[in-house]
Amino acid sequence: MTWDTLINKAWIARANAYAPYSKFQVGAAIESESGNIYSGCNVENLSFGLTNCAERVAIGAAIAEGAKKIIRIAIVADTNTPVSPCGACRQVMAEFGIQEILLCNRTEQILFTLDELLPRSSAGILNR
Ligand code: THU
Repeated sequence: MTWDTLINKAWIARANAYAPYSKFQVGAAIESESGNIYSGCNVENLSFGLTNCAERVAIGAAIAEGAKKIIRIAIVADTNTPVSPCGACRQVMAEFGIQEILLCNRTEQILFTLDELLPRSSAGILNR
């Protein structure tokens, strides 16, 4: 599977974003270890604190469908510079073994490893 496939799925999911408060729409698509794709968009809430980011919605969908390990994720938004995941999402990515994270806007893509975005995540805990 190519990154382009994941990027396209992420843009499709972004179109469904529920973001009436921030007006900032985000899409994400992930590939599981077995090669399946799952996508997510941000889902906001009046309380603000209950907002779910696109990344965690996609990861939750994958786990609900039976995925055990997630290999990579593409995240898209219409930003000046490629959108970057929040700290909470980085920690959740660590939980499910995501190693490659592609940050995208309409014209640019930047690839990161999880360790670059969250150094020493779960060292000695999840992979002891
Ligand atoms: N958001 C995401 O869904 N993913 C990110 O990587 C950045 C931020 C959402 C949360 C909120 O709905 C809106 O974007 C503004 O922060």
